Amino acid sequence: MSNQPAAIRRADYNAPSHFVDTVDLRFELNDDGTIVSSRLQCRASDGEPGADLLLDGNELKLLEISVDGQPLPAARYTVDDQSLRIRDLPAQFELEIRTEIHPQRNTALEGLYKSGGMYCTQCEAEGFRRITYFPDRPDVMAVYTTTIVADPNSYPVLLSNGNRVDAGHLDDGRHWVRWHDPFPKPSYLFALVAGDLACHQDRFVTASGRDVLLQIFVEHHNTGKTDHAMAALKSAMAWDERTHGLEYDLDRYMIVAVDDFNMGAMENKGLNVFNTVCVLADPETSTDRDFETVEAVIAHEYFHNWTGNRVTCRDWFQLSLKEGLTVFREHQFCADQGSAEVKRIGEVRTLRAAQFPEDAGPLAHPVRPDSYIDISNFYTATVYNKGSEVIRMYHSLLGAEGYYRGMQLYFKRHDGQAVTCDDFLAAMADANDRDLTQFSRWYSQAGTPVLEVQDDYDATAQRYTLTVRQSCPATPGQAEKLPFHLPLVMGLLDQGGRSMALHLADSAASDAPLERLLEITSHEQQFVFEQVSERPVPSLLRGFSAPVRLRYDYTDQQLALLAAHDADGFTRWEAGQQLATKLMLAALGRAEPPAHVANEHLLSALDGVLRRASEDPAFAAEALTLPSEAYIADQLAEVDVEAIHRVREACIRDIIAELGSDLETIYRENRGTDQAMDGASMGRRALACTALGLLARGDDVEDLLRDHYRNAANMTDRLCALGLLAHTDNDAAAAALADFHDRWRNDDLVVNKWFQVQAMSLREDTPELIAQLMEHPDFSLTNPNRVRSLIGAFAQGNPLRFHRPDGAGYRLLADTVLQLNAINPQVAARMLLPLTRWQRQIPSAREGMRRELERIGNAHKLSKDVFEVVSKGLQA
Ligand code: TRP
Ligand code: ZN
Repeated sequence: MSNQPAAIRRADYNAPSHFVDTVDLRFELNDDGTIVSSRLQCRASDGEPGADLLLDGNELKLLEISVDGQPLPAARYTVDDQSLRIRDLPAQFELEIRTEIHPQRNTALEGLYKSGGMYCTQCEAEGFRRITYFPDRPDVMAVYTTTIVADPNSYPVLLSNGNRVDAGHLDDGRHWVRWHDPFPKPSYLFALVAGDLACHQDRFVTASGRDVLLQIFVEHHNTGKTDHAMAALKSAMAWDERTHGLEYDLDRYMIVAVDDFNMGAMENKGLNVFNTVCVLADPETSTDRDFETVEAVIAHEYFHNWTGNRVTCRDWFQLSLKEGLTVFREHQFCADQGSAEVKRIGEVRTLRAAQFPEDAGPLAHPVRPDSYIDISNFYTATVYNKGSEVIRMYHSLLGAEGYYRGMQLYFKRHDGQAVTCDDFLAAMADANDRDLTQFSRWYSQAGTPVLEVQDDYDATAQRYTLTVRQSCPATPGQAEKLPFHLPLVMGLLDQGGRSMALHLADSAASDAPLERLLEITSHEQQFVFEQVSERPVPSLLRGFSAPVRLRYDYTDQQLALLAAHDADGFTRWEAGQQLATKLMLAALGRAEPPAHVANEHLLSALDGVLRRASEDPAFAAEALTLPSEAYIADQLAEVDVEAIHRVREACIRDIIAELGSDLETIYRENRGTDQAMDGASMGRRALACTALGLLARGDDVEDLLRDHYRNAANMTDRLCALGLLAHTDNDAAAAALADFHDRWRNDDLVVNKWFQVQAMSLREDTPELIAQLMEHPDFSLTNPNRVRSLIGAFAQGNPLRFHRPDGAGYRLLADTVLQLNAINPQVAARMLLPLTRWQRQIPSAREGMRRELERIGNAHKLSKDVFEVVSKGLQA
């Protein structure tokens, strides 16, 4: 490969040579180039003159530079395409720099760019250096004052961080607004927005009585879709006060929705920028899932104000310090909004779908990585979701009270600072007088630990012994792993499914709870339970108490018992999933494909779910959903996606044969024709759609699907039917797809869904259809949402057709990545990830994937982002 960008190492961290106390920025926004003037008050961190100052800068045109009011002679500085180095500086000085940038040419969507008619910024992680020369690292924190000058007709709304302090008009007709953010912050939290925007406004009075202005800005055609986001914001603000005693700290909280955005949303201080997908919602055009996403992301970005902004990261290796913690806070909040069990099931599904494969693949890395080439590649499921599981384990091990004591101490010690994961751990340890040294391995060791549990029952002694062994597979650069410290929450069921009292051998006789948290710390441990009157069924890893793979050799009967009776909802769901997984894996292991995959135990467990469905329809929907093809693949040493698909379909047909009429009843009882958005209605819709999804895999279902599509009164129902219809190439499918596009051709977010259902189609010619759709006038490679809806959904969500044996799916993805590489490197690198998961595919697939990876690797002018993923992905 041609260019070989260097890796940055955590071990090489050096404190900054200079601090920047204040930053004064002036932006003159012109459609033929924006002028950025900055004035920085700098001081050497050791208080001595003479140290060089290194400023980061990318794609900037340097117009002027002066120190303490004097133009800087050329001999005192050097510029290259990454940086600006200044020599012979006094201990304290004022640095002024003028640069020119071109937001309208910026398709990478980092720094200042245009989306639709508006200007906006994305500075995390290293986008600020595309705006002006600056020490663009999170441990340099400054107080920002920002003045924005623009044409008042095109850009009536001018926003930046903090409080609005002044505004006026210039003689040439332009207007300006000045913003001041009193809280010192790293450059990655800077934001600017300019546009013609509508504003949904509300107020929130904090616990201490401060009145906060809440504003959500959208382009005019999106007005009327922000009620849900506003309500979510207010409940998140109240929740953080109630649970953590944390209040908002500025006079206003602003959110702006933009169409072109690389990720979900961004927590810029006082001025969040959101992907429209994560903020707009209404029952007509959004699914129930979309409503949940908006609520979760609004809360997530709000919670960052304390976990991320008030206390920030020292360097980017510490990313999980803010992301893992904020995802956990988001999960706690969401659990409090509805069914905690169903939310937990969703979290585990996501972890298993996104993080376990990452941890098992060539890009595996610890929650706190040791090196990176491009930090944007480390906004991963490991840093976010496994990072959140790590925080959840502190909560389990220390108890809720101990956890909140630790949080209090963390804020008391570090408010206003840029700190590390070690600092967080130390606050948790010190507040609880606990030694968490071993727990810190969760930050340093990659890979998903495996817990192997065996048991022994001694009927004469009435003694039950659990033996727990842990291990962790090798990951790139880490051959050997040391044991983790983790909580294993468990119970024991008797043969009737009742919870048994747990008398641990070495605890007091009076101490016999129905559930225990076992602390696992060694390679192998034994736990002895006394007074166990019959051989119990162990209920292990309740609530998914640790992010591990659990192995216990359950019989089908035991799993059915747990599925029907366990005290923990997660374990009930999990037992059903494990039973189905076991049967599908067994079928895959046989030489001849068996006539039947499901057996009486699975069918009776599902029958039980159907009979109890009305008690908790949302839970029933989860329990009726078979493990995904990707989850089955993740259990196998060699993956044949077509075989997996066949076995899973056969399993569903067995279910229809036995329970089809009950599924139809459930479907008819729960399908609705309204737009009610309460939890109960959403639960019934989920159940009806899941039942329909199973029935759709049977015969003669076209009318059923067509009716469901036609009678749908909300997007959840309509999209469910459309997705199921789109698996075939009959007239009903074509008519529904045409109708759907016709109705919503002007709503971008709905058009995304239209692309997505086609990308997920099981039709054999899906790769060809996608190639055609890329030529559709509504498609564009410069809009990340479109790319994710079509290309991302295909490569990540349609394993059967992505892995089509002729390699068409791989070629399509590689062609697209090569185009995207020049347009938007962050999105290109992310789209590429599925191609790096070739290691466990059958040999023919492996070759096809490697060939396409190599083709990308051999291309000229690869971005750092794509280079890093390709080169790591090609390593065996
Ligand atoms: N910090 C943001 C969050 O998790 C996400 C984010 C990181 C991001 N880098 C980004 C968003 C780049 C957009 C573009 O809340
Ligand atoms: Zn975040």
